[in-house]
Amino acid sequence: MTTTLWAYPSQHYDGAKTVQGDKTYTGGTPSWVIWQLLTRYTREGDTVLDPMCGGGTTLDVCADIGRVGVGYDLVPSRPDIKQSDARGLPMKDDSADFVFLDPPYSTHIDYSNHPDCIGKLDSSEAAYYEAMAGVFDEVYRVLRDRRYMAVYISDSWRKQRGVAGGVFMPIGFELFAMLRENFRPIDVVCVVRRNSKLRQGNRHMAAAKDNFFIRGFNYLLIFKKEEA
Ligand SMILES: C[S@@+](CC[C@H](N)C(=O)[O-])C[C@H]1O[C@@H](n2cnc3c(N)ncnc32)[C@H](O)[C@@H]1O
Repeated sequence: MTTTLWAYPSQHYDGAKTVQGDKTYTGGTPSWVIWQLLTRYTREGDTVLDPMCGGGTTLDVCADIGRVGVGYDLVPSRPDIKQSDARGLPMKDDSADFVFLDPPYSTHIDYSNHPDCIGKLDSSEAAYYEAMAGVFDEVYRVLRDRRYMAVYISDSWRKQRGVAGGVFMPIGFELFAMLRENFRPIDVVCVVRRNSKLRQGNRHMAAAKDNFFIRGFNYLLIFKKEEA
């Protein structure tokens, strides 16, 4: 990809001939997004950390292209993902060459019943951003100097009784502002979404009738750690 608008016909970089991550995992990251990042920002043998590893997509992409994948999750879905809260990783300072992060953004997916799941926090409230600040501090600590990290995130919108126009949560802008306090912004990429909800005609009719927009893209916020 050579522009800041990324669109791809499949979730996977080889046209779904092979599958990275877990097809049945709700909320998995498109593997081609991770592939694009790793081929641009890492070299063979580099250590790539995903502290919210979900179905393990990052680990599978790493295995495909010769990176050392390190995956953690609050509730690991497979044995090569280790258990940890992303706000307190059992990793040494300056030990990762790249960090990829696809965090929960609001409460619409039920990842687990773990009380520390960030997916239980409403992104219209301060607690969500406080939790994400803790994750970003930890990413800063474990990332090597002059190395890159990327956050895949979407804004959110929901209907609310008594609130005309519903509630819009500009999560992408909020997280960008938080990240640039410590990291240097490298770029913002717009990734076109292709999920099944976007193909539901009734949702498009509701969007026009009720005056809201369906989320059509995710942000990819790319930053670099520069201690100096
Ligand atoms: C959007 S999913 C990640 C998807 C993953 N990249 C994939 O491709 O399957 C977000 C993940 O964050 C995890 N999570 C939520 N709160 C967490 C926390 N405090 N620490 C670590 N992981 C957490 C959830 O369990 C969930 O697996």
